[in-house]
Parts: sequence; C-alpha cells; structure tokens
Amino acid sequence: METKTQPVQTPVNDFLPLEGTDYVELYVGNAKQAAHYYMSAFGFQALAYAGPETGRKDSVSYAVRQHKLTFVLTTPLRSDNDMADHIYKHGDGVKFLALRVPDATSAWKETTRRGARSFMEPKHMKDENGVVVMSGIHTYGDTVHLFIERTHYTGAFMPGFRPWNNPLFQPTDTGLLYVDHCVGNVGWNQMNPWVKFYEEVMGFKNILSFDDEDISTEYSALMSKVMSSGSGFVKFPINEPAEGKKKSQVEEYLEFYNGEGCQHVALATNDIVKTVKELMSRGVEFLKVPTTYYDDLLERVGKIDEDIEPLKELGILVDRDNEGYLLQLFSKPVEDRPTLFFEIIQRKGAKSFGKGNFKALFEAIEREQELRGNL
Ligand code: FE2
Repeated sequence: METKTQPVQTPVNDFLPLEGTDYVELYVGNAKQAAHYYMSAFGFQALAYAGPETGRKDSVSYAVRQHKLTFVLTTPLRSDNDMADHIYKHGDGVKFLALRVPDATSAWKETTRRGARSFMEPKHMKDENGVVVMSGIHTYGDTVHLFIERTHYTGAFMPGFRPWNNPLFQPTDTGLLYVDHCVGNVGWNQMNPWVKFYEEVMGFKNILSFDDEDISTEYSALMSKVMSSGSGFVKFPINEPAEGKKKSQVEEYLEFYNGEGCQHVALATNDIVKTVKELMSRGVEFLKVPTTYYDDLLERVGKIDEDIEPLKELGILVDRDNEGYLLQLFSKPVEDRPTLFFEIIQRKGAKSFGKGNFKALFEAIEREQELRGNL
C-alpha cells in the first residue's frame, strides 16, 4: 500500500489564484422541482431566478444558497440545443464547477495559453448592481470550469437574474457551509492525462495518490489522485476505474452518465451529527456501513470529541491522518441514474479524504450496485 502525501505550498507566482468555489450548476430535467428538492431536503434558501421573465428565452435557472454554498439548477425550455442534449445524454448532472477568481480575463488567458480548450471568452455582464466578469474552459467529459470575477458586484447573484424568494417557504438551515472538494470520474487510463491538465493548465499540485491496492475490495477497484489549487481552496480528486473481479463503481458511473463527469461534491459542515440528522429527516438517503464498523472504531482512530452512539445510529464514518481526524458520510445517488451523489464532511484537522473508510464504504456501494444488477 502506497500513499504519498505532500503539503500544499502557495506558489509565489500563482498564475491562477483561486478563491474557492463560486457555485455548482447542474443541468436538470426540471429546474423548478430540483430547486425545491435542494431547498426542502438540503436546507438551501431561494436566492435568484433567471428565465423568460428576465429576458432569457431558452432556459431557466434557479440559484439557491446556504452559507457559502451556491447551487444553480438550469433546465432548457426547448429541445434541439446543447443543454437538452446534455440532459438526454447524461441525465441530471453537474455542468459547471464555477471558481471564484480575482481576474476572470487573466484566468482565461493563462489557462488557454497553456492548452485549455475555451468554453467562453471573458464576458462582462452588467446590471444596476455592478459587473461580473465570466470566462470558461472545458475539463473532463462535458464538464466546464467557469471563472467568476465578482469584486465589483453587489447584487444577489448575477446580472440576468432577479432576486427570488418565497416568504412562506423558508426551509431551515441544515448547517452545510461550503464545497470541500468535487470529484471527477474519468475513463480507463485517463487519470494521469487529467492530472497533467490540472498541473500544467491550472497550476494545481497532486497532493495525494491512491492506487488500486489502497482502494480495492473484492470487486470495486479504482485509482485516485487528489489535485489542489495553489491556494488550497479548490480540490479536485480524479478517479479512474481499475481492474477488479466485477464492474467497479466508476465503471457503473461512466456507463450511466454516458461518459466522464462529476461523481460527487463534498459539502462541509461544522456539526455533522446535526446536519445528517436534519438531512435524513428530510428524506436524503445515505449509504449504510454494517454496525460492526463501530466495534473497533476508537482503536482505529483514537480519541475523538464525539460520542460514538449518535455516529453509529446515523452511520457516520471517521478517519484519522497525521494532522487530525475527519467525519464523513455519503449519500446515495440523488437522481435515478447511479451517478451524482453528495458527501457530507466535517474536518477536525485532517486534510485527507477518508482512506481508512474506503473498504467499508465500497462494500456498501457494491451492495447497492448488486441491487441494481450492475455488479
Ligand atoms: Fe470525497
């Protein structure tokens, strides 16, 4: 078993300084209902709306927010366009991982100069609240990184959107704070080319690697490399399938998403027990590990601040690295295709990704795959 860890060092000349995730945008079949799901199940608040009423003819978007976490749900109003094709091919899924930058023009120039395929040249979008500059480049599959510069904007979300609110429907917060990391699933032998892309085109560093020996159960093998921006605020682990006895979870994803794409978005909380209780009571479904996982938990991870009982009751997993520990739990896929899911994570010093939980977790995933007949 070989795991390499390297500390993140902010380079002196970071050509792509990233301040964090600005928003995650999903293309979905029905944005109105998806927005309602993220509000009622995950505790997001209504934020902004764009559609025919705001001058956009062919699609609608709903932006919802919880603390520093913003999701945008977008749906096309007509067929025969890229958005409709995206949904036909992939089902509901993440289209844009939008990254906050101090200068979206420079971000586009620096990345395209290094070989990125342009999605969108820098565009100045204005309204009475100021200006947002947006640009974008393609990444794995049909996924796109947008660069968002909003230092001179004071509006709710973005020009083209109007504030949206329903005073009679104000779901309570579930304590979700910000995006911790977003994981991409890529095809056979594609992990290293994408690692190279993030290194060369975006100036990221490979801070952690897992080979198939680390992440392999009887069936479900995968390899993963974690890429981090120079600032450390944006982390993209990249997974590829590895040869196992039967079909791995990454292969199942690639088959049903019909290509490479975002596998999970990890959402941070400061109180995972409270957050998970809230999410479960609102219908969010999570993977379950056997209760025997908790029998020797303290021997594996040492002393932790939390009581074991509530963790066991909710199925929350714990792992430790040399800097601290983390608590995490994974949802089941949030659409009918076995594709996108969410991770809920609380870090208590640990900067890693829960390697100690991989085996228990992947066995739980395999049980789900088996039920779907995809193992
Ligand atoms: Fe994760």
